[in-house]
Amino acid sequence: MPYMYTYDTYTTILSNERVAEDHYLLRCECIDIAQHAEPGQFIHVLISYGTGLLLRRPFTIYTVDDRHITMLYQIIGEGTRRLSELPRGASIQVLGPLGNTFDIVGNPNPAILVGGGAGIASLMLLAVSLRTQGIETLGLIGAQHSERLLSVDDLEGIGVSVHIATDDGSVGHHGFVIDVLIDILHKNDLNHPTIYACGPHGMLAAVSKITSEFGVPTQVAMENRMGCAMGVCLGCVCPIRIGDNQIEYQRVCTEGPVFNATEIAWEI
Ligand SMILES: Cc1cc2nc3c(=O)[nH]c(=O)nc-3n(C[C@H](O)[C@H](O)[C@H](O)COP(=O)(O)OP(=O)(O)OC[C@H]3O[C@@H](n4cnc5c(N)ncnc54)[C@H](O)[C@@H]3O)c2cc1C
Ligand code: FES
Repeated sequence: MPYMYTYDTYTTILSNERVAEDHYLLRCECIDIAQHAEPGQFIHVLISYGTGLLLRRPFTIYTVDDRHITMLYQIIGEGTRRLSELPRGASIQVLGPLGNTFDIVGNPNPAILVGGGAGIASLMLLAVSLRTQGIETLGLIGAQHSERLLSVDDLEGIGVSVHIATDDGSVGHHGFVIDVLIDILHKNDLNHPTIYACGPHGMLAAVSKITSEFGVPTQVAMENRMGCAMGVCLGCVCPIRIGDNQIEYQRVCTEGPVFNATEIAWEI
């Protein structure tokens, strides 16, 4: 029921602060969205204030409280650069919560969260939910270098055991977050873990390959480019296996953004 609780809200920015190199945390009041958001869901944000940008941009809901939501975002292009320049008090229009959610219902097994770059933003509400249920949770965070590292304090603050990998070795493991994941799966210390991942497409494809070799159930949050985020334009589709040699294109905005990793035809 993706649109049962979907709201389009005009709001003003309460804070919009740099938290790492090229990364910002934006906070605004969106009571209805805050009260209905589930782990993995996203918002579609119109950044028209003084920018003239017509298309909205999708961002995961990073945290919620009773009245507010935050989003953690990376400057990628024109939209996110303009967003990062908006001051406290500037208006934005926020549509959400959108999309499906991570499936953790009835699964008490340990969780491994794998976040590459700003992808870790999509795993924060999930981490809160897992920890609230007392589920052992590891957070594997990958970044290019220490200045771009995100969410370590937020995750550790709720009892997630954090492992870091940086491309240049400036902090944590020198290499990819995938190396850390392989190491943990080889050690086999966790009892039937489930993996939840978000990050660049190549990282997700690599996670999927490894976890299928180890036979570990894995859910991935896809971040395809979007137009409408309402299931209409088909700009966000992703190839899904629906049988032997059969592919169906599904919409990341409505059937996703969360998919079982084994369903995705990564080679296409
Ligand atoms: C469901 C969902 C949740 C997301 N959550 C977050 C989040 O929490 N934090 C965050 O930082 N980002 C998130 N993103 C990605 C974010 O939407 C894009 O980075 C943003 O739309 C870029 O807008 P822009 O105007 O700055 O860049 P544009 O000017 O639109 O694009 C600049 C360049 O980046 C490329 N690009 C743009 N968007 C994407 C994309 N999604 N994937 C790959 N390449 C892209 C373009 O091809 C272009 O080359 C999410 C995306 C989706 C679909
Ligand atoms: S973004 Fe338009 S159908 Fe998904």
